[in-house]
Amino acid sequence: MKRSFTAMRWQKWVLTTASALFMVTSGFAKAPDPAVVKAQDQRTQATVEQIKAALPKTTASKTTPADVATCYACHKDIKEFHAASKHASVNCAQCHTGADDHVAKDGKAPIGTRTDHAAC
Ligand code: HEC
Ligand code: HEC
Repeated sequence: MKRSFTAMRWQKWVLTTASALFMVTSGFAKAPDPAVVKAQDQRTQATVEQIKAALPKTTASKTTPADVATCYACHKDIKEFHAASKHASVNCAQCHTGADDHVAKDGKAPIGTRTDHAAC
């Protein structure tokens, strides 16, 4: 009686150890630690705030939407390209800076293209 009890415990130990090993090696045990996730989220947020603060004012979210029809009057090729693109619903001014001046001077004033991630 006592012997089989010990045997059962031994068997249980082997099974537990084996499944624990399986879990560790198969990645089951790698469920993210909430404390680590939280710390990472905070770091990410801090980085985002830092980037936001470092952005020039002109690239902040307040852009005056450009009158697309005006742009298309001179940029017919862009109409074809833009209207069929995934950015069709994104206003030109979201990516191009100084649009007002560009239009006011009949396209002679330079216009910028934003390449920072915030534009995306
Ligand atoms: C009166 C005509 C006219 C209008 C209106 C106009 N553009 Fe232009 N645009 C031009 C000309 C001319 C150029 C310079 C030659 C070229 O690259 O085609 C130009 C160039 C550009 C460029 C390229 C700049 C570069 O450095 O390569 C962009 C981007 C642009 N326009 C965006 C716009 C947007 C956005 C609008 C609407 C808000 C607009 N344009 C309205 C005439 C116009
Ligand atoms: C999602 C961002 C985005 C939007 C929205 C966008 N553009 Fe552009 N545009 C770009 C990028 C990026 C380039 C390439 C700039 C470069 O090569 O320096 C470009 C280039 C151009 C050029 C120059 C093309 C050439 O042949 O050199 C024109 C003109 C232009 N855009 C007009 C427009 C007009 C008009 C609109 C609105 C209808 C518009 N864009 C909307 C990102 C955008």
